[in-house]
Amino acid sequence: MTPVGRLFRTKPTERIVAEGGHGEGGELRRTMSLWQLTLFSVGATLGTGIFVILGQAVPKAGPAVVLSFVLAAFTALLSALSYAELAGTIPVAGSSYSYAYATMGELVAWVCGWCLMLEYAVSVAAVAVGWGDYLNAFLRSLAGFELPAAISRSPGQDGGLVNLPAILIVVLATWLLLHGASESARANAVFVLIKVAVLLFFCAVAFTAFNVGYLTPFAPLGVAGVTAAASQVFFSYIGFDAASTAGEEARNPRRDLPLAIILSLAVVTAVYVLVAVASVGARPWTEFHPESSEASLSAIADLAAGATWPGLIVSFGAVVAIASVVLTVLYGQTRILFAMSRDGLVPRVFQRVDPRRQVPVANTLIVAVFVSVLAGLVPLGQLAEATSIGTLFAFALVNVGVVVLRRRRPDLPRGFRVPFFPLTPVLGAVMCVLVMAGLAGVTWAAFGLWMAVGLACYFLYGFRRSRLNTEVER
Ligand code: ALA
Repeated sequence: MTPVGRLFRTKPTERIVAEGGHGEGGELRRTMSLWQLTLFSVGATLGTGIFVILGQAVPKAGPAVVLSFVLAAFTALLSALSYAELAGTIPVAGSSYSYAYATMGELVAWVCGWCLMLEYAVSVAAVAVGWGDYLNAFLRSLAGFELPAAISRSPGQDGGLVNLPAILIVVLATWLLLHGASESARANAVFVLIKVAVLLFFCAVAFTAFNVGYLTPFAPLGVAGVTAAASQVFFSYIGFDAASTAGEEARNPRRDLPLAIILSLAVVTAVYVLVAVASVGARPWTEFHPESSEASLSAIADLAAGATWPGLIVSFGAVVAIASVVLTVLYGQTRILFAMSRDGLVPRVFQRVDPRRQVPVANTLIVAVFVSVLAGLVPLGQLAEATSIGTLFAFALVNVGVVVLRRRRPDLPRGFRVPFFPLTPVLGAVMCVLVMAGLAGVTWAAFGLWMAVGLACYFLYGFRRSRLNTEVER
């Protein structure tokens, strides 16, 4: 096969599915139920976006930020349907990376896997950095105490060496993950129930101060404002696809993965829209600031109730919310690398499974060290947009993948079929590109650099080590 032919060689779907669950030295355990998978996706999705980005997006769109959330949800839904179809057809751990390998070939699969590292490893580092701020805000309001700046650095603090809380949360999540997927899913379920309850509590408090007058003018910055805010809040929907990385640990993946993806998006959208309506109804939109922190939700709750304890509960909710994002997104990254390693595109150590725990232990530890170093030492302020662009690119590829697989393999059993095919996936891909276009130039530049590094890695390593290639050469 010519070198160019190799780049576009696809991996047969049946083979991808047959290899599912198997690692070197052991197998993953199928323990996750529909309920756990759904909460896994909600766990990965509901986090910084609603606690922080909502407040920052209001100045762009005014009260119409509610529509921005709906628009972003619509974009996410189109891609979620495509994810649901592919996850029900190719239920393995690699998520969109594996789908791209089955449909568009190795090079596109690698690009997709590399984008997923932005969505998972890099974003989880950014989220962990944010967690330090929430923890300090919570400790401050609870006891007037915070982790000292001399050892702990958060974005606003000078002089610290490492971001200690960021490392702490990664270590805690890793400890849970090493106990097994089922144990992690159980812990995550508790976290998710707490964060949803806290957000509903926030809505209940904010609605007591609801003032219809605050909603006019509804869209002071017009359609452009609404779409710009939609691009920004899209970040808050990232993660609904997390269940698709659990394909090899789900009890009934063909049925449950599609359902979990769609259900989680429905839950998250309902919560977001409710929180957005409550927020802009309880506080004039002109009082939100583009640099506002999670304190915006706490402040609204305090103002509405005329006390300080509601804000404390909201801060606690943020701490728990981010912890579960870190847990589930770290999990997703390890499973994607697991699938890539099985294909020879990343070193074999990532597919080694501890036979007793049935967990890829070395893989989990390597990812944890990488994320800790990134989160502990690198200031990651602008990272949210950079992760959005990588994610949107991966989502666009999944939409295209649905079309390609329906044409090439109409015969495959599918646990779920996208309605209104091919309109839905085509529109899904178009919407992803439109939202990408709304992101800043500097984000595009960072993305270009990231892809250049990724391609260099592929040509120096994966291109030669790919199992599809080495098997042919033998
Ligand atoms: N959607 C995730 C969050 O908002 C990334 O934190």
